[in-house]
Amino acid sequence: MAGLLLRGFDIRKGYLDGTTQTRLIEALRPILKAAPLVRPVTPSGKEMSVRMTSAGALGWVTDRSGYRYQDHHPKGEKWPAIPEAIRTIWHDLVSAEREPDCCLINYYDDSAKMGLHQDKDEADFSWPVLSISLGDDALFRIGNTTRGGKTESVWLSSGDVVIMGGPARLTYHGVDRIRPGSSRLLPKGGRINLTLRVAR
Ligand code: SIN
Ligand code: MN
Repeated sequence: MAGLLLRGFDIRKGYLDGTTQTRLIEALRPILKAAPLVRPVTPSGKEMSVRMTSAGALGWVTDRSGYRYQDHHPKGEKWPAIPEAIRTIWHDLVSAEREPDCCLINYYDDSAKMGLHQDKDEADFSWPVLSISLGDDALFRIGNTTRGGKTESVWLSSGDVVIMGGPARLTYHGVDRIRPGSSRLLPKGGRINLTLRVAR
């Protein structure tokens, strides 16, 4: 499908076909078993509505000590490896030479959302963040490279992929809400967003 460029975000609607989406969910199942989703708290102590885990050498976590990447799940185990089915998408759209070292896995239930934020805990912003949407639709909001100002929103559906890079690498973004029941990919509903990152 035709690409959509919104404030520097390269949005590939329908990039992943249904078979590939199903394969990704199957690849995620053992990961979610080995590294269960946790409901993180922000450094100020506020519980997030999104539940999170990671795959890869590093995972992104937040707790009372701050936002950071670390090599283990909050319960202590090393993160599972990023499955080939996911790395392939990075190879095809970003780079075949450099591997992502983090796949952050966000799960949105019917009432989850994510406030406007920048992805800025990575060491090298020359690498994009690659976002993969699976399951229910999400209203994705894009702001500016500084806080505040006008924003624009777009619905992201299952199979959509977004490349957040270049001048837009530090653009504020967030998820206002999901549309419960809009996809049948996940047996229990909800939305999974994967973001592949070069963190080091
Ligand atoms: C994120 O910014 O980490 C998540 C974006 C999304 O859920 O689409
Ligand atoms: Mn983000």
